[in-house]
Amino acid sequence: MAVPVRARAVPALVAVAALVAGVWMGLLRAGFALGAPPAPGTHGAMLVLGFLGTVIGMERAVATGRGWAWITPFGAAAAVVAMLAGRPGAAAVSLLAAGAVLVAVFVAAYRDQPEPHLVLMTAGASAWVLAAFTWTLGASVPSLVPWLSTFLVLTIAGERLELARTIGTSDVARRWLWGSAAIVVAGSAVAWVSLQAGARLAGAGNLLVAVWLLGNDLARRTIRLGGVTRYMAAGLLAGYLWLGIAGALWMVSGLMPGTTAYDAALHSLFLGFVMSMIMAHAPVVIPALGGVSFPWSPALWVPLGLLHGSVLVRVAGGLATSGAIQRWGAALNAVALAVFAATAIVIVATGRRRRRARTGHRAT
Ligand code: HEM
Repeated sequence: MAVPVRARAVPALVAVAALVAGVWMGLLRAGFALGAPPAPGTHGAMLVLGFLGTVIGMERAVATGRGWAWITPFGAAAAVVAMLAGRPGAAAVSLLAAGAVLVAVFVAAYRDQPEPHLVLMTAGASAWVLAAFTWTLGASVPSLVPWLSTFLVLTIAGERLELARTIGTSDVARRWLWGSAAIVVAGSAVAWVSLQAGARLAGAGNLLVAVWLLGNDLARRTIRLGGVTRYMAAGLLAGYLWLGIAGALWMVSGLMPGTTAYDAALHSLFLGFVMSMIMAHAPVVIPALGGVSFPWSPALWVPLGLLHGSVLVRVAGGLATSGAIQRWGAALNAVALAVFAATAIVIVATGRRRRRARTGHRAT
């Protein structure tokens, strides 16, 4: 069952809508009177499973080449539409099905090629399923946070483990990673019974995963190179630092909704770590998913710098219990994401113009 290239534009466009709607909901939750987006309570699910779930599902469907793997991004995209229509129950069911298919995609990939990074990514996809399942039972979005973060942390760690094969990892490093991942999963499971105890345990696991990433990732070497390679490495290493900070914050203060520390603990991970990964991978992921060329431009440093600067303001505001500074940070986070989107659009348009000019030259 092949999915026509044109049809793939559907989840891609829905992912963009999910990002815009998710950030809009976030700004509203941060206290900015910006109209009334539908279902602002679904902000976290919209961004983690709606936006990132669709993008990760598309990336995996392209990578495996299996037609049925497209059920994941289409299912996550359907959930975005359901959330926008104010139907969180339907969204949760659609996400449960989409996540289950992602687990099957990784299991099938493991059968073809039994590699440890696929085990980690299967565990990550299972965390998506558990988050969605908990949501179908009527749980609030904040109580899903440990499973939502486990999905992203293990999926990203799995991707980096795959690349680390090229430089080799010691036995101690491998055991460190598996032990840390087990603590992350155990923490999310404990959070079903006690959100605070589970968040503290998952935080310890996240901190240990960050130490592994900082110590073993290929980016430690590639940061010395220039151009796009240095940009990607810088985005990855800065993201790992934020994962470590998030882990420490979760360990110390748990996840107490309604406190400024809660916002800092959440967004050091979801913006500082995860969105930095997205910006770092953009030069590779955008051409692979969009079939467009994405020539390197140093302009990409601007949104990356803005993202990290704004997360710093937001987290500092949270730790200083200053709601005003935190709100400034939140607004600057949105500016960083908007500048990134605008830069990416200009780069794709430039790539298209250059390609047309080249083919024009050849034709004459
Ligand atoms: C400009 C960007 C963003 C703004 C303004 C924003 C704002 C907020 C606010 C105000 C909260 C509630 C915090 C509290 O209750 O004290 C929140 C929660 C949350 N955010 Fe964000 N956020 C942004 C980006 C993101 C991104 C990119 C992600 C994920 C990749 C994310 C994931 C979450 C999650 C999982 C929660 C907790 C669950 C929930 O309450 O929905 N946020 N966000």
